[in-house]
Amino acid sequence: MTTDKPQILEFKSHGSSNIGFVTVAECQKDVPFAVERVYWTYYTPNNVERGGHAHRDLYQVIVAVSGNITITTEDRDGNTDVFVLDKPNQGLLMPPPYWHTMKFSHAAVLLSLCSMHYEEADYIRDYEVFKSGR
Ligand code: TYD
Repeated sequence: MTTDKPQILEFKSHGSSNIGFVTVAECQKDVPFAVERVYWTYYTPNNVERGGHAHRDLYQVIVAVSGNITITTEDRDGNTDVFVLDKPNQGLLMPPPYWHTMKFSHAAVLLSLCSMHYEEADYIRDYEVFKSGR
């Protein structure tokens, strides 16, 4: 798997509509790094855009465990992609350093599997700094 570009990962799901489903992501197999941190977001109003930053070193896999999440990514050359997460057995692999913004449907829950502990120094929050590669 090439891990240098944002891409949708499909996770295996077990079960059926009769009994429900379970989806599994194992580190270094389904997720191409060791998970050091997990965070989740919820109750984001659907008129709010979150994100608006890039990371220097962090890899993450973002899952919409409930609802829909639309994620726009941009590289330093201005190439953009739009990913719609609308299935709980999918994740978006987000490598560094992609600028990304996110919009949420009503009651969407975002789960992120992260390769690093939280470090504010890993964030690039200024778009001009991101574009300049500093
Ligand atoms: P942030 O990543 O800036 O959210 P978004 O880009 O989606 O708006 O995080 C919001 C706040 O939460 C910010 O003050 C930092 C804090 N935070 C942590 O303390 N630890 C974490 O692991 C994360 C993801 C955020």
